[in-house]
Amino acid sequence: MPIEIVILAAGQGTRMRSTLPKVLHDLGGRPLLGHVMDTAAVLNPTRLCVVYGHGGDTVMSTFADRDATWVHQSEQRGTGHAVLQAAPHLSDEAVVLILFGDVPLVRSETLEAAAAIASQDKLAVVSAMVADPTGYGRVIRDANDSVVAIREHKDASSAELAIREINTGIMAAPVNRLRGWLEGLTNDNAQGEYYLTDAVEAALADGVAIEASVVLDEDEVSGVNDRVQLARLERAYQHREAERLMRAGVSLRDPTRFDVRGTVEAGTEVSIDVNVVLSGRVTLGTGVRIGPNCVVSDTNIGDGVEILANCVIESASIAAGARVGPFARVRPEADLGPDVHVGNFVEIKKSVLKRGAKVNHLTYIGDSEVGERVNVGAGTITCNYDGANKHRTTIEDDAFIGSGAMLVAPVTVGAGATIGAGSTISRDAPANELTVARGKQRSISGWQRPVKNKK
Ligand code: UD1
Ligand code: CA
Repeated sequence: MPIEIVILAAGQGTRMRSTLPKVLHDLGGRPLLGHVMDTAAVLNPTRLCVVYGHGGDTVMSTFADRDATWVHQSEQRGTGHAVLQAAPHLSDEAVVLILFGDVPLVRSETLEAAAAIASQDKLAVVSAMVADPTGYGRVIRDANDSVVAIREHKDASSAELAIREINTGIMAAPVNRLRGWLEGLTNDNAQGEYYLTDAVEAALADGVAIEASVVLDEDEVSGVNDRVQLARLERAYQHREAERLMRAGVSLRDPTRFDVRGTVEAGTEVSIDVNVVLSGRVTLGTGVRIGPNCVVSDTNIGDGVEILANCVIESASIAAGARVGPFARVRPEADLGPDVHVGNFVEIKKSVLKRGAKVNHLTYIGDSEVGERVNVGAGTITCNYDGANKHRTTIEDDAFIGSGAMLVAPVTVGAGATIGAGSTISRDAPANELTVARGKQRSISGWQRPVKNKK
């Protein structure tokens, strides 16, 4: 049967104490709702409906590029009422799966299991055994262990409150069945809400079987209501990502001190030291080593690259065999070729460094092209900005730039040229020649140091 998915995301999230709608809070580099939408997409649903309310337009516009049906629930009158808003968009031949926008870590396998139950003309309820069931709806079973009701905490008797099997909120049912159940809901309960959970008793009355699918991993079905829970689930998510990478052959020196805020593709024999944050899209080739305290975002790193401690690398490309750091800053559009070395306190921006180029100490290279085997001495600056416009510097193959050179762009240093240390180069330097542009050294004999005036 085709699967349709409804994600409930209209709640206000007051306990976050935030102007940002709850489902837009970040977990591992993606909004909470983004996690749920991504997991939902794994099931290839024929339709994905998101019920939104609070923070409306911001929620919708955050996911403008997604193929979803957005349904507005102007007043939050309960989970059953929320699903009812989406009902006109659902087709009777399908099975509908209901998810919560603030339960980000649910696994696609759990959803598939629930959908499979519903495809057999049953109502699927995803439940979990938890240590502390406070606040949750309890799963009520009869003497035969069959699910007969879900009782909300606020409506439960003291005997029911002792039950530790809780409703995670995730349900699946045939659309044609659910439609009727939703229409029959009343708000005659402690919260005056239309409860989706009352569908259980409606199914029972219709003679439709109810099957609970019990989830063992509590994190998977935990919701985010405040920032404490958000931080806890962030750790759970990071733990999952770390395990996934380790199983794929990546060594993490300490998985509790490693953060992924995006997607990482890694080869084998990769090793990552502590306090490394990878964000956006990062690819790591075989044998890459990353030292402690590095932040790497949206960057491709080739085979055998070594990133030493304390580097910040953003939107760059680093080819095989290169070595970066310690303490290097590699900024957007830096394209480091094979075997390039970028050393301490070096900043590279929007520049191509070709095979074997070395920039080892205290240098700024911006808007430049640096040829093969070029050696840039310590303290060199490409003066790329004249206060109004940026200009390019070209350093051709095999050039040698002495320490402390200022290369005032636009300027070209020819192949094999040598620039004397301390030169300020503002005109092109010819290939294979030594160019020196600095004051001539002189010594003044008989010069006396000033002495302090006597009072
Ligand atoms: C719900 C379940 C409870 C379960 C718990 C799991 C019901 C009646 N109760 O309770 O059995 O144990 O989740 O976390 O279903 N929402 C809307 N519109 C509304 C109301 C809610 O979109 O009118 C959304 C919320 O944004 C949230 C989700 O539905 O994503 C759950 O709502 P919430 O108010 O948190 O339900 P609980 O009382 O926690
Ligand atoms: Ca909740």
